[in-house]
Amino acid sequence: RAPADIYRPLRANSKGVEFGERAGLDALLTEIEIARKLRPTALPSQPSHKERRACRSPIDGKEIGSVIDSDGKSIEAAMAAAQHSFDSWAATSVVARAWVLDRTADLIEARRASFIALLQEEAGKTLDDALGEVREAADLCRYYAAQARELCTETALPGPTGEASSLRRCGRGVFVCVSPWNFPLAIFIGQVAAALAAGNSAIAKPAEQTPLVAFEAVSLLHEAGVPQDVLQFAPGGGDVGAALVEHPCCAGVVFTGSLEVAKSINRALAQKPGAIVPLIAETGGVNAMIVDSTALPETVADDVLTSAFRSAGQRCSALRVLCLQEEIAGGCTELIAGAAAQLRIGDPRDLGVHLGPVIDAEAKERLEAYLAGCAARGRIIYAGEAPAAGCFVAPHIVRLDRLEDLKEEVFGPVLHVVRWRAEAFDALVEAIARRGSGLTMGLETRIERRRHALGAMAPAGNIYVNRNMIGAAVGGQPFGGFGLSGTGPKAGGPDYLRRFMREITVTVNT
Ligand code: NAD
Ligand code: ALA
Repeated sequence: RAPADIYRPLRANSKGVEFGERAGLDALLTEIEIARKLRPTALPSQPSHKERRACRSPIDGKEIGSVIDSDGKSIEAAMAAAQHSFDSWAATSVVARAWVLDRTADLIEARRASFIALLQEEAGKTLDDALGEVREAADLCRYYAAQARELCTETALPGPTGEASSLRRCGRGVFVCVSPWNFPLAIFIGQVAAALAAGNSAIAKPAEQTPLVAFEAVSLLHEAGVPQDVLQFAPGGGDVGAALVEHPCCAGVVFTGSLEVAKSINRALAQKPGAIVPLIAETGGVNAMIVDSTALPETVADDVLTSAFRSAGQRCSALRVLCLQEEIAGGCTELIAGAAAQLRIGDPRDLGVHLGPVIDAEAKERLEAYLAGCAARGRIIYAGEAPAAGCFVAPHIVRLDRLEDLKEEVFGPVLHVVRWRAEAFDALVEAIARRGSGLTMGLETRIERRRHALGAMAPAGNIYVNRNMIGAAVGGQPFGGFGLSGTGPKAGGPDYLRRFMREITVTVNT
């Protein structure tokens, strides 16, 4: 099956959650409930001297498991095993490597209820977000398996008579995979699947907030046939990530997370003695949507709500600054605020809830401090209501005088609104492009020239016209930005795997 056939995202709208098959939903809910009860909570011990630490749900602070983070000794052991096993994995046929990833995708689908249960408890996901993430994880495994089959086949090259040349691609060595908490299954497994498909051994370092779902994913990859030594699990925080990146055996790094950490990894790699180590970094963005006076207001409200508030705004693709044409700004803002007031915030396991919690108490504090500053300056146009207990932050709409007033990504359910004048469309796109943070961008218009102009000016890696700006489909909408938003190549796209590979040309005098 092509990835596009498998990926059928569900949409949350202001009326609730839409499901394709109601009957299937009831069975799934029962499976999720059982999975929640049966799940083991303590991750197995590893040879680390660190204290076991509790993993708490952002929904209610309840302890849902525990983990022992890696220390220097366990990092050494993981690196040595991954380095030692690299040659045998690289020598495994691409057909076999791809088969293992296809089987991983099958297992993800078969165990979707237990992944959903964990994604809800550990990362605070709503059912439709968790389902979308499980689908994306399976799609990524199948997509990279298919890409590897294509790219790892030796190709004959044209050349002069009397010579035969060929191109071969293979893994680089031990790839360090460092992932964020906001897609603890899809991004985590996507990075690892790409590294393994390309013929590397891999060290998987999940975000400190989400080791439980990551551990389930690693166990499943092992069950599918990835040899234990080839894929190592290294839970822990930034110190563990930094030690892995700086390790002499690290032959490549794939990172998704904040710009600040991407830059620190870049600096660490530049200072490493020996070979140049490639870095694939995907970071955040101050993503904009432009709405002009020809756009359909109800469509705009629906798309804005989904883009800004779905997943509690904790997507790198999320809409951060909405640019409304002066003439429609008042009415449009009112419509959006009215629709936002219909959103329910609370326990994401409740089907009627649109927004779950933010990831942890620290994120909640950071967002509340930011919003308090906006309130003190009289900038809040709309403030929703959220439960006081748990890590909940209500959706907010904040007024800006100028685009430049928003200095950096605010990672949560906070939408900024700025006005623009009709004659300044091109200047506005240029101003957005000048910010240099080109991840996603939206445009709502019925003026064809504007669609073409935006495509030609290309201020972002993923541009969406007359629809929401999130939920890029594997294979169909390769995802990723440039400038301050990352190095590329795009995840779930045809060029991604190449960066994980070495290329060797052999020329024989015949
Ligand atoms: P983060 O940068 O704080 O952490 C990401 C990962 O890096 C974690 O595993 C963390 O432990 C590790 N880390 C921290 N310091 C490190 C260091 N010095 N060396 C090596 N590893 C280190 O990001 P986060 O808070 O987990 O995620 C949110 C950010 O991720 C947002 O900025 C969001 O926009 C971005 N993001 C981007 C994409 C994308 O595809 N472009 C997707 C999801 C999230
Ligand atoms: N790939 C994710 C999205 O498009 C981040 O929303």
